[in-house]
Amino acid sequence: MELTLSVIKADVGGYVGHSSSHPDVIQKAKEKLEHAQGQGLLIDYHVTVCGDDLQLIMTHQHGEDSEQIHKLAWDTFVECTNVAKSLKLHGAGQDLLADAFSGNVKGMGPGTAEMQFSERQAETIVIFMADKTASGAWNLPLYKIFADPFNTIGLVIASNMHSGFTFEIHDVKEHKKIRLNAPEEIYDMLVFLGAPGRYAVKAVYHKESGEIAAVSSTQRLSLMAGRYIGKDDPVCIVRSQGKFPAVGEILEPFASVNIVEGWMRGSHHGPLMPVAVRESNPCRFDGPPRVIAAGFQLANGKLVGPRDLFDDPAFDEVRHQANIVADFLRRMGPFEPHRLPLEEMEYTTMPEVAKKLAPRFQDI
Ligand code: F6R
Ligand code: MG
Ligand code: MG
Repeated sequence: MELTLSVIKADVGGYVGHSSSHPDVIQKAKEKLEHAQGQGLLIDYHVTVCGDDLQLIMTHQHGEDSEQIHKLAWDTFVECTNVAKSLKLHGAGQDLLADAFSGNVKGMGPGTAEMQFSERQAETIVIFMADKTASGAWNLPLYKIFADPFNTIGLVIASNMHSGFTFEIHDVKEHKKIRLNAPEEIYDMLVFLGAPGRYAVKAVYHKESGEIAAVSSTQRLSLMAGRYIGKDDPVCIVRSQGKFPAVGEILEPFASVNIVEGWMRGSHHGPLMPVAVRESNPCRFDGPPRVIAAGFQLANGKLVGPRDLFDDPAFDEVRHQANIVADFLRRMGPFEPHRLPLEEMEYTTMPEVAKKLAPRFQDI
């Protein structure tokens, strides 16, 4: 069965501050998608949140970039914004950059990850969703999942994965893309993936069959808006089992601390902490950045699940280490490398402050 899985997300208002989402906002999104399912537009849906980001997970048969599906997501975010405004939630409608919908939510603020595929006999899916970080945060985990045999033993011992995977990498500033193959071109690939502020993995394909394996949201909110609004808080869909990595191979990169950009005012480096959905409420210094993982089996497009995959004591130790890294970095206060490097600070609110002081600079 040909199927499209769309994950479309936006921050339409935080409760309290930017730390979490209000139940009434979530309820409104559920009502909208329930109605759309009743009308036959969606096969199934699941609404969840990661911190202050509302996540619409939808299955349908309208393909990627469908105007109908994007309009449904946009209208849902608008109605949820109205709920957020009535409760005077913080930053109500913050990610909705346009006044009206115009065909596709891309470039209008929300983040999107969509993939079309034919559902396998057993279709296992993992959806990662993050808060208080930028698109590009998936580079390191996706590299480990699909190219690092120390992470994914299947690359070595499973014959259906042994030929490797193809990465589509986007230059988010110059709007260019390149495809590179693992394992042959991993040294070339790492030139770019190691700079996640500029290059982000958009998609990964099974090399032999060409089948889609993973897709992520690469939208940069600050580049779209031309000013700092909030972080991208990206999402990523990964297909699992069979010719794709096992669930445990997909989660394994998150068992060690990855340092990402984001956290307080989107201006700091901090540890990405894998948590259960109920723990995705970044409060300490508005963080540290969080990632949740929702696992599903698909049954003719029905979303069987989710299983809250990081709700597992096996991730307690990385959470503990993330807290130690957080303490360590916090002691540096406003100094780099806790604070982002100067060129990245251009996409925050700091230039406004620097502008005021510009006239006081004298030649040396
Ligand atoms: C980071 C984030 C928060 C806010 C901070 C200030 O992505 O959302 O750290 O930047 O709470 O928020 P405002 O400017 O809305 O008061
Ligand atoms: Mg927010
Ligand atoms: Mg957020």
